[in-house]
Amino acid sequence: MYSEKVMDHFTNPRNMGEIEAASGVGTVGNAKCGDIMRIYLDIDENHVIRDCKFKTFGCGAAVATSSMATELVKGKTVEEAMAVTNQAVMEALDGLPPVKVHCSLLAEEAIHAALWDYAQKNGIEIKGLKEPKKDIHEDEEEETDWQA
Ligand code: FES
Repeated sequence: MYSEKVMDHFTNPRNMGEIEAASGVGTVGNAKCGDIMRIYLDIDENHVIRDCKFKTFGCGAAVATSSMATELVKGKTVEEAMAVTNQAVMEALDGLPPVKVHCSLLAEEAIHAALWDYAQKNGIEIKGLKEPKKDIHEDEEEETDWQA
């Protein structure tokens, strides 16, 4: 059901932890499953992401996608990091089961939230970046049983 890459990043996650005095921090949750993701970015004066770490209260797919997403954004400029979408992360992981696609959105949104935090603190604009949501469930279709 899961690709070897997903299993590898799940059992041996890269960049788990936190960065003290990070340049940007973003936290996003999904009220539907109750999972939370936090991303820390260390960004240099040329707007290049030197380091990236994550912490999650999340499922295995959220761990694997965050691990891969942090690997993909490292060394990129903040604008280039915008191309690290959940699609790009899923491709890098050789896919995810359809029911787990939303988990990969947590990583993308948390990176955007951390970039937003950085942009706000430094008074810059990052092309294509919009104010992030605190909860990605806001965008999903309302289902009657999600509070049950
Ligand atoms: Fe919540 Fe995967 S089930 S992030």
